[in-house]
Amino acid sequence: MSTTSKSKRYKSIDKRVITEGEKLNFQIYLPNDEKSSMMLYLQSDTVVDGNDKVRIREVEKLYIDVEDALAYEAYVQQHIQTIARAEDISLDDKAIIVYEKASSVIDEMFRNPESLEVAKNVKPVVDSIVDIILHDTKAVESLLKITAHDFYTHTHSINVSIYTLSLGAFLGLNEEELKTLGMAAVLHDIGKSKVNFDIINKNGKLTEIEFEEMKTHPAQGHKIALKLGITDERILTGIRHHHEKMLGGGYPDNLSGEAISKFARIIGVCDVFDALTTKRSYKDPMSTFESIKLMKEVMNGHLDFDIVNALIRMLHR
Ligand SMILES: [Fe+2]
Repeated sequence: MSTTSKSKRYKSIDKRVITEGEKLNFQIYLPNDEKSSMMLYLQSDTVVDGNDKVRIREVEKLYIDVEDALAYEAYVQQHIQTIARAEDISLDDKAIIVYEKASSVIDEMFRNPESLEVAKNVKPVVDSIVDIILHDTKAVESLLKITAHDFYTHTHSINVSIYTLSLGAFLGLNEEELKTLGMAAVLHDIGKSKVNFDIINKNGKLTEIEFEEMKTHPAQGHKIALKLGITDERILTGIRHHHEKMLGGGYPDNLSGEAISKFARIIGVCDVFDALTTKRSYKDPMSTFESIKLMKEVMNGHLDFDIVNALIRMLHR
């Protein structure tokens, strides 16, 4: 171990993500005894073994050079599925790690909606959420617990994905269907990246003109998905039709009933549920009970009731 110069800057990292059997692509540091400087603990390109894992468990915090932040992000991204399947990480910890990763990937995607480079990070994150859900029946509980209740488009997207995937699993969809549904859910509001920022973040009710612009987002999202090379109709319709209504009158295609794809109907229900249970600057969050009541009583004809009922059963089991 060598002591390093003080001129570097360091940041702490989540030590739970260090994966046994995998090669590091950044250096790991520990504060030395006087805590006045850092010492090199593990070299970049070290293949972490069982002994390293034991030692890592014993130390309080691990640090990296801030210049390695991107390499660290890439490492977490690369190993997210291994982390999701790791036996030695608790379900709650996995849920937090995956949620944080999903949050940062989606945030990046909203800033660069047409970047293929960014888009390719989405699938492993979706797949890891599905892995967690399918691996452990209690996963849904852990994931639902951490859904943030402050509204940002990217937290909304990840929350809707978690509700959608939990509900999809509850409805008995298979792994392939869930992974596809998850992509549609993560991307369902990506079209909002093309809507004026002031409209997206307006504190209060939109004017008619603003709402007309807001209503373009499902079709814009569909267009972005095509540009990203997505061809699966279930993903494309999941994005395009999540604001269609069961009795018609939704947008952009004024469809009704079964003409709205199943994925779009599932996302539609979870979208409304998250919007109601989330805090906005102009409204307090509604409780689960109040939200469900409103969805059943007021949104009659809008949502697929079989799916609303499944959501109720899932939340109350
Ligand atoms: Fe939407």
